[in-house]
Amino acid sequence: MNSKLENVVTPKLTQPETKVDKNAKNFAASWYIAMHSNALGKQPKAIELFGQPLVAWRNQNGHPVIMERYCSHMGASLAIGKVVEGCIQCPFHHWRFDSSGECVAIPDVERIPPRARQATYVTAERYGYIWIWYGSQTPLFSLPEFPAAEDQKHNYMLLRFTNNTKTTARRVIENPYDHYHITALHQIKVSGPLKLTLLNDQYLIQQNDLPIQKDAWFGVSIEFPINKYIGKLGPLVQALGIDAKSFMMRVDGWPSGHIATGFVDGEERFKIMDCIIPVAENETISEVFVTVKKTGKFWLDIVYYLVFGLRSKSGATQDVPVFNTIKPDGGGAYVKYDLGVLKFREFYQSWVDKVEK
Ligand code: FES
Ligand SMILES: [Fe+2]
Repeated sequence: MNSKLENVVTPKLTQPETKVDKNAKNFAASWYIAMHSNALGKQPKAIELFGQPLVAWRNQNGHPVIMERYCSHMGASLAIGKVVEGCIQCPFHHWRFDSSGECVAIPDVERIPPRARQATYVTAERYGYIWIWYGSQTPLFSLPEFPAAEDQKHNYMLLRFTNNTKTTARRVIENPYDHYHITALHQIKVSGPLKLTLLNDQYLIQQNDLPIQKDAWFGVSIEFPINKYIGKLGPLVQALGIDAKSFMMRVDGWPSGHIATGFVDGEERFKIMDCIIPVAENETISEVFVTVKKTGKFWLDIVYYLVFGLRSKSGATQDVPVFNTIKPDGGGAYVKYDLGVLKFREFYQSWVDKVEK
């Protein structure tokens, strides 16, 4: 699956008490973004994920390591320690822990106590993010493939942005399957009915057609007719003589994010990878990576960047006030157009159930 598995740091966890997910609730077993790559340099950094205080640092190969923040000796914060010879050294009594969380040196002590270890997560680094696997000691599937941000980068214009929200991971992740809020909340004018198709049920899947392995995949397509390009930029787009009749968005999801591919009149125009940083049960950071396909025509590229890149960014901020005030377990009177969300919730729950307790 993932050809970049050398980027994955697999710790040697040998003791069951090293599991670090005891307090977290309702997170699916999956890959999550822990932080941006450029936010982690030579110094260890305190981070919070899944409601737990953690520390991130880089070992001698530059690989990111994420482990319990508080030292198993007397609880000092390793985030104010330093990296020495590829290990993290606690500031208090200089115990050293390697990438697997094992204590490898205690000054003036020969026998290292078996409980001297830090619970450690599996990590990877791709697309400018440090990723963390949550839910089991070894990942149940590979990282999503997003070549538009990697080896096919030269064909796309790139834009990344972040939104902080005070709600659960699931509320944020289920958003793209809620196709009706596109016209209501996002006020996108469509000239006919919105159609949602659940691809898991009926799509004839080519395994290599998916950005994620099949059993971790949840796919839908959303289609609607349009008279012209939508939103404030419509007049500009029309003035340039660009016309469009239909829009289709294919969403390839997994338990903690998705890649949406936008097609105008059957032509791929953009891809968006949307993943989250799961800070705590009611605190989620949405990380969006938009890639707009280049056409080779300078002015047209500018228009498409505005229409699909910047419009996606401003659109995403419209969800934030709803997320910040929503009752996480509220609602229940569903109608036919909620099918996408309800089906996704079943899929999501199956991955919450896979979390090792
Ligand atoms: S508290 Fe970390 S070495 Fe003592
Ligand atoms: Fe939205």
